Parts: sequence; structure tokens; C-alpha cells
Amino acid sequence: MMVQNLSAAPISYGVRLASQKDLPALEWNGEYTHFRRMYADVYQLVEKGDALIWIAESPAVGLIGQLFVSLKSGRSELSDGKTRAYIYAFRVKPAYRGRGVGSRLMAVVEMDLLRRGYSCATLNVAQENIDARRLYERLGYYVTGADPGRWSYVDEKGQRREVHEPAWRMKKDLKR
Ligand SMILES: CC(C)(COP(=O)(O)OP(=O)(O)OC[C@H]1O[C@@H](n2cnc3c(N)ncnc32)[C@H](O)[C@@H]1OP(=O)(O)O)[C@@H](O)C(=O)NCCC(=O)NCCS
Repeated sequence: MMVQNLSAAPISYGVRLASQKDLPALEWNGEYTHFRRMYADVYQLVEKGDALIWIAESPAVGLIGQLFVSLKSGRSELSDGKTRAYIYAFRVKPAYRGRGVGSRLMAVVEMDLLRRGYSCATLNVAQENIDARRLYERLGYYVTGADPGRWSYVDEKGQRREVHEPAWRMKKDLKR
């Protein structure tokens, strides 16, 4: 019921770059606590100018969506610090999905990348995530290949966790 009411109500929210004090909200009240160290590492990249953390925030609710951008990394096929940037950790809280928040986040991020001189955005989408792939295709992204989707991170308890999520690599030419 709550969700139905929420999805009928208009949401007022803004999109902005996150600061260090926003990091706890990225844990989504415990659902993503396991990413605490990764978020802290990404924030160090933000301070170096190699990454961006964007959030969609409602005055009433707080964080409702997020999107990370790697501007520069050791993997130049993803992000090279000049022309190509990599979008990841893109999610909107379930009660706010399907209402344009994700599309608006992507539009803000793409406009910002163009302003920074980037001409291409890349991302990985899990092969089983048909819904997200459809959204990306609607936004002008196309599949350029497959990615084995193997990566790992250290959780908040210091334990390494392996992820295996075969993905499609997608790309968009931002200047078109
Ligand atoms: C993908 C996601 C960020 C889009 O945000 P959003 O605010 O729902 O997006 P919009 O309202 O602008 O666009 C809706 C589109 O999102 C996609 N979508 C909707 N619900 C989704 C879900 N649970 N999972 C994945 N994609 C979804 C659909 O393509 C939908 O389009 P449709 O109308 O053709 O079905 C959001 O749905 C989400 O957080 N999903 C779970 C996490 C995820 O899959 N992230 C992408 C990782 S690559």
C-alpha cells in the first residue's frame, strides 16, 4: 500500500555531487554496508579528481538514487581521464523506480561529462538485467561486447568477496 501511494505521489528531488558526509547514506540503511570500504576508496578517487559520486536526493526522504563515474582508471577501455568515462553503481531505491529518476540522473551525468570534455560513456550491465539494458538502449547506449564480470571487493569486516556477474559492455557516443 505504501509503495502504491508513493508511486502515485509526485516526488520532489534534486541531483547533486556527493560529499564525504553523504557516504553513510550510500549504505541504504544496511543493504549496502558491505560496500563501505569500496565507497571510502571511491571517495579518495573523487578527491584526486578521478571519480564522481552523484546522488538523487529528496528533501523529505534523503538519498533516493546514486550513480558513480570513473573518469580515470587503470583500465583505459573503461575510463581514460580524457575522452572516456565509466558509469557504475547506478541504482534507485525500489519505491522510486520507474518514475524517471534514473533517466534524469543519467542525463545530468552525461551533460556534466560533455562539459568536462568527455565524448564517450561506457558501462557494464549484467546479462540477466534485461530491464536495465532496455533503459540504457532507450538512452542511446549500445552493446560493444561481453565482459566476464569477475571482480572482488573487501567488505566492511575486511573479508574479500568475489563477484561473478557476466555482463554486456555498453557504450554511448555523447556528442551525437
Ligand atoms: C536501473 C534503475 C537505476 C533505473 O532507475 P529508474 O528510476 O527506475 O529509471 P526510470 O524511471 O528513468 O526508467 C525506467 C526504466 O528503468 C528500467 N527498470 C525499471 N525497474 C527496474 C529494475 N527493478 N531493475 C532494472 N531496471 C529497471 C526499465 O528499463 C524501465 O523502463 P520500462 O518503462 O521500459 O520498463 C533502477 O531501476 C534500479 O535501481 N534498478 C536496480 C539496480 C540496477 O539494475 N541498476 C543498473 C545496474 S547496470
